[in-house]
Amino acid sequence: MRVLSSDAAPAAVTPASEIAAPTGRIVAFVADDDTANALRLGLMGAAPELDIRRGTVRHAIRFFEKETAQTAIVDVAGVADAAAALDELARLCPPDLKMLVIGDSTEIGFYRTLVGDLGVAEYMHKPLTRDAVQRLLLPHIAQGAAEAPGGRGGHVVAVCGARGGVGATTIAVNTALELARLARGHIALLDLHLQGGAAALMLSARPGPGLRIALEDPERADALFLERTAIAIAGRVSLLGAEEPFEVTPAISDGGVGRVLDVLRQKFNYVLIDLPMPVPVPMRQVLTAAREVVVVMGPDVASVRDARAIRHMVKALTGTDRVLTLLNRADIRKGVTLKLVEKGLGVAPDVVVPDLGPGMLEAYNLGVPAAQRVPAFARHLAPLLREVAATNTAPERSWLKRMLRG
Ligand SMILES: Nc1ncnc2c1ncn2[C@@H]1O[C@H](COP(=O)(O)OP(=O)(O)OP(=O)(O)O)[C@@H](O)[C@H]1O
Ligand SMILES: [Mg+2]
Repeated sequence: MRVLSSDAAPAAVTPASEIAAPTGRIVAFVADDDTANALRLGLMGAAPELDIRRGTVRHAIRFFEKETAQTAIVDVAGVADAAAALDELARLCPPDLKMLVIGDSTEIGFYRTLVGDLGVAEYMHKPLTRDAVQRLLLPHIAQGAAEAPGGRGGHVVAVCGARGGVGATTIAVNTALELARLARGHIALLDLHLQGGAAALMLSARPGPGLRIALEDPERADALFLERTAIAIAGRVSLLGAEEPFEVTPAISDGGVGRVLDVLRQKFNYVLIDLPMPVPVPMRQVLTAAREVVVVMGPDVASVRDARAIRHMVKALTGTDRVLTLLNRADIRKGVTLKLVEKGLGVAPDVVVPDLGPGMLEAYNLGVPAAQRVPAFARHLAPLLREVAATNTAPERSWLKRMLRG
């Protein structure tokens, strides 16, 4: 797992071409020479980059912690708990990565479990031959990236402020970065404030027009959109934002927002979204896509009123209560007490963060993530991170759980 270095400012403006897997890259981890040779012969010329390494699914896990590909071929022969290892691998690979598995077992039950329940594209038992590779594996590779519909798409978390200036962007940015320390997989931070958004500023990044263009026109949210638009922040975290001038209002479309969400959910395991409030109509679908909607509020009566109203709206739009409330700067002078906030909300806020002093503003002005500058902030965010990371094991997303159930 990558850990952010504590003091360094994040690398700014690095085009994240490595985030989108190089088209057609195949990485294989196989345990013996015969299997490697059969793969090499069978897949020769099938992909611009065929990288065959010696190892098993365990080595693949270490590899995919740092890198990515369009297709993974992994050997589970001799691996004690193959299903658990494949489940672990799935968590850190982009949801649209195609997984092909090789093993010793010739049992149809094993095949069914992998292909039917675990979402593996194909399973082949040894000994592999060139002919079998061409007949059984090649068609999957030729199809390109896997579909990542519904359950296998990345986990969406929307963050919004009950009111302006309560700290929503600070929470969204630092939750994304902390998630990179705590959870595995690839993380996107999407700032949907196309004008005046602050996520990029907080990370010393300078976004271009790519996000606005894609949100206006779904046709432009194509495979190259990510390469052009995402900015690599810290290894597995990528930022998508905009700094549009104020004189023109971007013409965001339903289709554009939907397509951007789809693309991000295929490529990233988590998508953290800094969502404007009130939510512009084309962006309402973010609330439906989100597993959690984090409403950040301050200790003031308007925040409490508006947090309730947002919870009501989210319930009405989505049919479920997926709101988590975060009371920020809870102990600020002259703020309303926690008891009163509780009374106003009807329940205690899910997360409470105190005022953490001028270091927070200093971090903002320096373009350094606040949780690096003010370590106490990271500690106070921990309950939110636990909640988000824990719900990522929902049954339909877990290969292992699906298998045990089946
Ligand atoms: N817990 C905290 N303690 C001290 N300062 C904080 C805390 N949380 C946020 N801040 C500071 O509050 C300011 C506003 O934060 P931020 O920009 O995240 O708010 P916002 O809700 O996104 O605002 P906007 O409505 O403009 O989008 C920043 O200077 C940030 O550093
Ligand atoms: Mg903001």
